[in-house]
Amino acid sequence: MATPVLDSDLLTTLFDAAIQVSEEGELRNVLKSIVRSAMDVTGASYGALGVVGRDGYLVEFIHEGMDEETADRIGHQPVGIGVLGTITRTAATVRLDDIRDHPDSSGFPEHHPQMRSFLGVPVRTGDTVFGNLYLTEKPDGFTAEDERAMEALAMIGGFAVANARIHQRLRRAAVAEDRARIARDVHDDTIQDLFAIGLSLQALAESSRDADIASALRNEVRRIDSCITSLRHLILDLRQLEPSRLLAEEVHELVEELADAHGVNARVVVDGTYDGLPTGVAESVLHIVKEATSNALRHSGSQWVEVVLFGAEDSITISVSDAGKGFDPHGHYGGLGLVNLRARTRQAGGELEILTAPSRGTTLRAVIPIDLSLPSRDRES
Ligand SMILES: Nc1ncnc2c1ncn2[C@@H]1O[C@H](COP(=O)(O)OP(=O)(O)O)[C@@H](O)[C@H]1O
Ligand SMILES: [Mg+2]
Repeated sequence: MATPVLDSDLLTTLFDAAIQVSEEGELRNVLKSIVRSAMDVTGASYGALGVVGRDGYLVEFIHEGMDEETADRIGHQPVGIGVLGTITRTAATVRLDDIRDHPDSSGFPEHHPQMRSFLGVPVRTGDTVFGNLYLTEKPDGFTAEDERAMEALAMIGGFAVANARIHQRLRRAAVAEDRARIARDVHDDTIQDLFAIGLSLQALAESSRDADIASALRNEVRRIDSCITSLRHLILDLRQLEPSRLLAEEVHELVEELADAHGVNARVVVDGTYDGLPTGVAESVLHIVKEATSNALRHSGSQWVEVVLFGAEDSITISVSDAGKGFDPHGHYGGLGLVNLRARTRQAGGELEILTAPSRGTTLRAVIPIDLSLPSRDRES
């Protein structure tokens, strides 16, 4: 028997989703509507879509169906291990009547509602797997048709993500290139032209018999010279403003200054690309580095601190490590530092984790997405 075709309601849903993607709406909203469509079409109670970055960590996570309180009580997004990890790794659909039957099932975190029926599909374009779209809790279990509908929706999600990433890369490349091009043009053309004009005026002044004219011409030559000087400064600014250098330098300076004050050794490693970094992201990076480094210096008792920055095309990862005494990251302290860090990271749409154990040191790791189409991760809307 031929497999049943998708019904017309579903086709309408798919077309709507596809149109939204091609209209280049805000990525997060497009993905949200894909998750909602998937739930509507299949009758699932919960749905989510997780997008992983190049380093395998989730850079975007959208969930529907779970109330805010429950989500807050769980406290963190899925880390993408267990069955979710399997889907991303193998790029294969998983459909189960009870998720706990899957050999890779890693169980639910504390406060997480128990869920049984499960349908998860990879989100990809071509060979690139971005993440997964998954649904849970359909009363009578998911069907083969649900599976096909989900695969179609996941494909649309894949296009939306790929599309957003290409646009973002183009925008960033444009900013960095523009700056370099302007600097080059000013250097090669404008300054050379002015220099030549200055020389001609100088020659005219020398050969002029009228003293007033000669002095006026020399005046003009001086103005041209000062104009050339300020253009040279402009070129320096354009080149120095190159964000990669600026951010790396600022991070080095900041960490060294802090560490020196505490007589502790600091190591700073900056790797990756930072071209066309939005200023907001650079500010967040500096804020996180500063707070995490000063915590390590003030509280850990470690003899060294290491700050590593890695700039990928779509995110920046900051990690600050010490070999000190460690602490309970969920404890309640008087300070606002960690509270601010968490708020700041969340506001930037990022992820923050603190790996720490008594007398084994602490590593604070934050991932800040650089996606101009994703300004905020608003749980509320
Ligand atoms: N790297 C670290 N090593 C050991 N303890 C830390 C570290 N970072 C934070 N802490 C502990 O967490 C507490 C809260 O930090 P924070 O919110 O930044 O406030 P503050 O720095 O003002 O005390 C600190 O007082 C300290 O006890
Ligand atoms: Mg602090």
